[in-house]
Amino acid sequence: MNEMNRDILEILITEEQIQEKVSDLGKQISIDYKGKEPIVVGVLVGAVVFFADLLREITIPLSIDFVAISSYGSDTKSSGVVRILKDLDQSVESRHVLIVEDIIDTGLTLNYLVENLRSRSVATLKVCTLLDKPSRRKVPVVVDYNGFTIEDQYVVGYGLDFDQQYRNLPFVGVLRPEVYGGR
Ligand code: IMP
Ligand code: MG
Repeated sequence: MNEMNRDILEILITEEQIQEKVSDLGKQISIDYKGKEPIVVGVLVGAVVFFADLLREITIPLSIDFVAISSYGSDTKSSGVVRILKDLDQSVESRHVLIVEDIIDTGLTLNYLVENLRSRSVATLKVCTLLDKPSRRKVPVVVDYNGFTIEDQYVVGYGLDFDQQYRNLPFVGVLRPEVYGGR
């Protein structure tokens, strides 16, 4: 057991479960986007691990790009005011865009991103997320591909952080409450 694992209360989704799901998602996306050459957009930073694994399960031609987003105000409570820290490098006009997110919580971040990209005259825009916490939703978002639906718990690992830590854990785990101090 390494020092990060000591902060984990419970492994919610194992490495094997993630791999199986990522493979299924990749297969489905390959079918749905055949002949469409999508631009697959990773939302930095949390989605990078999922994004890198998912890409290699997609068997059709595609291009990739990244966007970085930040919400104003305190880190713990999403204010709904969002800004783009790093925009896409490519034009998405008339392209099939697939956004890849780590987790959808209140939906505020994704809602902003979807509206923003939609205004750029994309051909289609869909969303793929590893995790979904629907009980926390403040604004509706359409999720086209979802890995796992989870309860209202703060999770880390497989790209997800608490205070920039734990992103390198290979599984998704629940953090011990004493670590995050009742967030
Ligand atoms: P939303 O705007 O509230 O949907 O926030 C989504 C973002 O909050 C995600 O992309 C994550 O970066 C972060 N987030 C939400 N829930 C968790 C969690 O349980 N663990 C780690 N990050 C989370
Ligand atoms: Mg994120």
